[in-house]
Amino acid sequence: MTIDKKFVDQFINVTVKAALASSYFVGKKDKIAADKAAVDSMRKELNKINIRGKIVIGEGELDEAPMLYIGEILGAGNGPEIDIAVDPLEGTNFAANNLPGALSVIAISEKNNLFKAPETYMEKISTKVNVKNVVDLDYTVKQNISNLSDYLNKNPENLTACILDRPRHKEIIEELKKLKVNIKLISDGDVSGALLVTDKKYNVDIFLGIGGGPEGVLAAAALDAYNCNFQGRFLFESDDDKLRAKQMGISELNKKYELNEIVSGDSIFCATGITSGDLVSGIRIKQSEFISETLVTHKHSGLKKVIKLKQNL
Ligand code: FBP
Repeated sequence: MTIDKKFVDQFINVTVKAALASSYFVGKKDKIAADKAAVDSMRKELNKINIRGKIVIGEGELDEAPMLYIGEILGAGNGPEIDIAVDPLEGTNFAANNLPGALSVIAISEKNNLFKAPETYMEKISTKVNVKNVVDLDYTVKQNISNLSDYLNKNPENLTACILDRPRHKEIIEELKKLKVNIKLISDGDVSGALLVTDKKYNVDIFLGIGGGPEGVLAAAALDAYNCNFQGRFLFESDDDKLRAKQMGISELNKKYELNEIVSGDSIFCATGITSGDLVSGIRIKQSEFISETLVTHKHSGLKKVIKLKQNL
């Protein structure tokens, strides 16, 4: 079974409307308001689509999130059963502080084909090279860079690695420096970071490091459509986290997940810019119209492109 192409435009509309709603809060120094605007809009638009959707990645568990909580059933109540992963505002700091890179993101798959990721950190790695044993989460940074350098026939000083700028990455960054790899440090937004390996124009050869687990699943959906490599391993800080993961059905807590264990079958991914960033431009409002850009992928039809829309407010 595949997801009908007719849904592509409908999911683009979901992230476009959420991005527009959130854009009114750009630079207002209020992460919560910017997020809430995107969440409310996303939920409203999802409920108009003829699907029987279930949130597998959302704003948290039912006791933490009144809307778009994990397990929430959405859609107009008829149509195919699908899994939905959302990050209505990816990069809350970016939106609150009017910095580049805030996105509204959704990924959908056929029922039971998207990983139900807990709200914990995930160790991740992505590359364009989708060949076994070149880049692997189990290898050292040195080994990965050496393999990638051989495979791409590029010296390490001509490779670029993207990584979140966090103290937890001090050792990885030191190692990359030692190896003379160019480093693209990002302050937030690792869905976008992971996707920079998809196209030569971004000049990123490898994305690595620890970020949010849900963001890893969202990125994996798009990376699948680009036929890129992605691996992720959840990291659990407390016994409570471990218990929650077990309740969500994760039996092997230390398992390294391959891309197709995270997302399988057909999928659609949409990321609309709220503020302009590497992947897409942000929302621009001109009198009674607004312009949006959405990176969209649909695995089955091979669609992978940025869609620019001019619409009435
Ligand atoms: P928010 O939009 O929820 O603020 O997340 C931004 C983000 O940078 C993600 O892209 C990333 O996965 C995560 O935060 C990293 O978490 P932390 O800031 O705790 O290192």
